[in-house]
Amino acid sequence: MSRIITAALVAAFTSAATIGLAQHDHHPHSQPHGQQAATDTREFVKFPEPLIEHTLANMRDHLAALQEIQEHLGMGQTDAAAQIAEKRLGMSSLGLHGAHEVAKFMPRGMQDAGTAMHRAASQFATIATDAGVTGDMKPALTALARVTAACVGCHAGYRFK
Ligand code: HEC
Repeated sequence: MSRIITAALVAAFTSAATIGLAQHDHHPHSQPHGQQAATDTREFVKFPEPLIEHTLANMRDHLAALQEIQEHLGMGQTDAAAQIAEKRLGMSSLGLHGAHEVAKFMPRGMQDAGTAMHRAASQFATIATDAGVTGDMKPALTALARVTAACVGCHAGYRFK
């Protein structure tokens, strides 16, 4: 699955690179800050305005969900962590987020990145539930990192503004 994301991102970077370079040509001395390159190579995705607001609100809930999941894991409440992941980020969240309506405005690579996130979250839910039985948290933490990697992957490739 990560190979699919990588392929999608490489495609996104390649198509966006030319635009990014053209935009930043008049700032030859701008320095990279932090880990971010001086050129923004993310592909611009045009969503209808109300859908942008709706999607960004979902995004803020994604971040809140990650925080709640981490907190529950820290307290050893693996079932609660699993439920949050499945309902708010996993395959079960697709209806909740109006994913069907939103998907048609997304380039293919972005759709794939979204699907990768939903799948990773559902896999995390299963693995976290197992952790409750085995007492070994490491696989759950690794699975959670794969969810976060899906966030990072899409953010690296696409922007609304
Ligand atoms: C399919 C693509 C995709 C995935 C997957 C994704 N995001 Fe986003 N997210 C975006 C885009 C595009 C933006 C807007 C970025 C921009 O325009 O600069 C965004 C913005 C955000 C914002 C800013 C919200 C605001 O109010 O401005 C947060 C927070 C965020 N995402 C969190 C997450 C988290 C946490 C995850 C993973 C659990 C995630 N996102 C997964 C595409 C995605």
